[in-house]
Amino acid sequence: MARGFDGEFKELVRTSTNLVDVVSETVSLKPLRGGSDFVGLCPFHDDRNPSLHVYPDRQSYRCWVCDAGGDCFRWVMELEKVSFPEAIESLARRAGLELPQRRQTAAEAGSELQKGDAYAILDWAANLMHQALRTGAAGGNARTYLQKRSLQDDTVRGFRLGYHPEDWSWFQDQSRGRFSAEQLILAGLICRKESGYGHYDNLVGRLVFPISDERGRVVAFGGRVLPGGSIESDAKYWNSQQSGIFHKSRTLYAFDRSREAIRKSRTAIVVEGYMDCIACQQAGVKNVVATLGTALTEDHVRFLRRFADQVVLTFDGDLAGQKAAERSISRFLAQDLDLRILTLPGGLDPADFLEQHSAEEFQERIAAAAEAWEYKLQAVLQVCGTQTVNGRQQVLTQMMEFIAASSLMPGSLREDLILRNVCQKIQLSESAARRILRELREKSNRAVPPAVRLDRGTSPAAAAPDDAVPRNGGAFELAERELLEIILTCPETIDLIRHRIGPDDFENTRHRRLLELCLDLRIEEGELPEIHRLIIAAESDADLLSLINAAADAAAQKGIRNLLLEQPQPHEADRGVSVPVHLLRVLKPLLERRARQQYLKPAQPAGQAEESAGELSVGQRDALNRLYSFRLNQMGRQHKLK
Ligand code: UTP
Ligand code: MN
Repeated sequence: MARGFDGEFKELVRTSTNLVDVVSETVSLKPLRGGSDFVGLCPFHDDRNPSLHVYPDRQSYRCWVCDAGGDCFRWVMELEKVSFPEAIESLARRAGLELPQRRQTAAEAGSELQKGDAYAILDWAANLMHQALRTGAAGGNARTYLQKRSLQDDTVRGFRLGYHPEDWSWFQDQSRGRFSAEQLILAGLICRKESGYGHYDNLVGRLVFPISDERGRVVAFGGRVLPGGSIESDAKYWNSQQSGIFHKSRTLYAFDRSREAIRKSRTAIVVEGYMDCIACQQAGVKNVVATLGTALTEDHVRFLRRFADQVVLTFDGDLAGQKAAERSISRFLAQDLDLRILTLPGGLDPADFLEQHSAEEFQERIAAAAEAWEYKLQAVLQVCGTQTVNGRQQVLTQMMEFIAASSLMPGSLREDLILRNVCQKIQLSESAARRILRELREKSNRAVPPAVRLDRGTSPAAAAPDDAVPRNGGAFELAERELLEIILTCPETIDLIRHRIGPDDFENTRHRRLLELCLDLRIEEGELPEIHRLIIAAESDADLLSLINAAADAAAQKGIRNLLLEQPQPHEADRGVSVPVHLLRVLKPLLERRARQQYLKPAQPAGQAEESAGELSVGQRDALNRLYSFRLNQMGRQHKLK
């Protein structure tokens, strides 16, 4: 079971550890010319040129190629594939520190379940159910089912599948003396009876799929009803509720097992079901993850984008699957992502398909999956048809909106290809298509705030050779990013920033989390968000750490410090506040965006709505369009907002 160390001990271990020494035990490090930093071959990917940087002053590391990064704890966790407490223990031992007693006993735990305890309880439960499935006397029916689904022993072990016997107090009986009922409730394993007296277990009689986070820690369970059992339920699956450690819209099933394959192939295959994911991996298709009963979210995509250039969405070939595919495509129009859609023939899901066909056939279909635009074109064609001029016009408009909203570089080969294909299909000239596209683009360019686009020769983050930089977030995302770079360069600016902008003003989730962390440090702990403090506060959260590192590097490279020293123009200085000009420049688009979002009401005059249409989401724009045509119709006119 994981030991719970308190923060103080963790910091003691950190200050007793020199990351350069620790890394040097595995990687041969060389000092980087002209600085105090070190470089070496990254052990987390197949590195030919030294791309791993170690920063002694920040006590952190980062790989420029695979984006691995973090502090000493993260290093040990990644390298030795161990949990956070184990990493602390290992580094403590290395530093000759005596391990303290465990922080909290079960009885001491208040109603707030500590994260560490939640991990420990879920891990315990996963083991218990895994044993019950593999060898338990009550597991016979479940084992038969696994055979029927052709799951091999290795697979069952690898995914730590489990079974909860048909016993409503099993968890409670097994955990006696270890965890309190209160803790089991908070971990989502049992519920209080409605009568108020006593408890009952969740997952009873179900085949259990432990859901892990990207570090491989169990954070939730999905449980499937078993045919042949005596538990009846309307819901095929019971799933853990969301919690402090489990967020459905961020978690991807089996990512911890597919990370390397995704990284290597730069492709992530996303399926809909636990079973589908397992079946694929068992068949040797390893770069597969599953969503958890939700559609793919932007958080998912942003996360996968760190490891993959291509995402293949796999949907059941039935009608519901096709609907789901369409929804996903329109949500990711604006992502710089090679998105492909695969629907399998005969309404099969991947697990069924692999029962009937070989893994090679599956791989072939993956490789041949239609690009999102092809899929989109098919869908649009089906709805609008090509029989009438009006229909063809509609197809053209919708497809051009699709292209304009995505990040295809104007003039790219891919864009040419799409244009040519679309125009052939509907027999309209390419020049008409290009004109529409140009108009759409001009309109959305107008919506980009000039402050960020024009102030310097390049757009803000353009100079950073960096994976974590939003490739396509647009000017706002770059402004968010640059604001963080300013804070990291000059932590005192947080006091100027915090009264002007809050986390809600950031749309990129990662950026928002880092801003939150900075503000928390300042407001709750009275500390300036200096890099070393942020790194500690980030608690070995790989995502945050890599953002901190990447932003700090980019800031140094861009010379943000010098930019901040620029003198204010006289009229700005008049106002008596010495806010760096550059800070104002970066804040401006973000403040404008907030203002626009606050004041944009659907019923406003057409001119204004058009100005902002470039930044609306597709859904918002559709809603606005509907409302607008409705009003115009009321007035007896026919028009459409582009
Ligand atoms: P499916 O119904 O396709 O199930 O749901 P499946 O995973 O393919 O299972 P088998 O093949 O019948 O054994 C796809 C996913 O949707 C979520 C689960 O994540 C499931 O894996 N789901 C489905 C639920 O969360 N609850 C449900 O009741 C059904
Ligand atoms: Mn299925």
